Amino acid sequence: MTVIAIYNRKGGVAKTTTAINLAAALANNQKRVLLIDNAPQANATAGVGVNPSAQPGIAAWLTDSIPVEKVLIHDVYQNLDLIPSDYSKNDHSPFLDRFRLSNHISSLATRYDFIIIDNDPTLDLLTENALYAADTVLIPLRIDKFALDGYRELRRHLREFEKETHSHLEILGILLTQYESRTRVMKGMRKELQTTLGNLVFQTTIRKNIQLVEAPFLGRPIYDYAPRAKGAIDYEALAQEVLERTKKQAVS
Ligand SMILES: Nc1ncnc2c1ncn2[C@@H]1O[C@H](COP(=O)(O)OP(=O)(O)O)[C@@H](O)[C@H]1O
Ligand SMILES: [Mg+2]
Repeated sequence: MTVIAIYNRKGGVAKTTTAINLAAALANNQKRVLLIDNAPQANATAGVGVNPSAQPGIAAWLTDSIPVEKVLIHDVYQNLDLIPSDYSKNDHSPFLDRFRLSNHISSLATRYDFIIIDNDPTLDLLTENALYAADTVLIPLRIDKFALDGYRELRRHLREFEKETHSHLEILGILLTQYESRTRVMKGMRKELQTTLGNLVFQTTIRKNIQLVEAPFLGRPIYDYAPRAKGAIDYEALAQEVLERTKKQAVS
């Protein structure tokens, strides 16, 4: 089992879009996948067609010791289960420590090949739970003038977290999202990022694609809505890279 936290301290960089559609793309590749919505806004939950206020979810699981079977929603998509977010109903964070999600997840190791955790931009106790539980972190990045600065600041914060918790965070890769290949500054910035950060940047970039915006309105991953759209093709390419990178990590 590989646990991937999707994280960036910025909002609007396609964390949730990536969590949903990477999870679905891995599921398309016959992997058993669990998507955990660890964000109070519950966008990933709604994005796969589940009403966040209708049932217990991650907060109930972590803080009230409700058995995982009561919060797991099976087959929101083929091979893909969901633990929805129910943080919005009340604030459970005072009852959490940093290690709770990691402890809870370990009981799921035999059931899933991948666990994908969507997060909010804030580096609070909820996100720290995800980072501590994760084997590796995928960082979606939207290209703008300050993308590299933002990345460096994020790395600093992650290093501080590693020190404090005596943990090691592997970076799975940086994913350029909402990419417009015809925009010259974007092309230039992509080159600069690839030169500076090398293999850390995924070969795959996620192109700007309106179907990726539309699919969550129907509560579906892109593959159920527009399987031939650029967004579907790009997240499939990302899944192949993720499979390749996690295979390497597993043997090293
Ligand atoms: N490749 C893309 N092309 C166009 N719009 C996108 C793409 N990826 C994400 N978006 C849109 O950008 C907005 C922010 O994405 P979201 O996944 O919610 O980011 P985050 O979770 O990081 O806040 C959403 O409206 C989403 O539909
Ligand atoms: Mg989000």
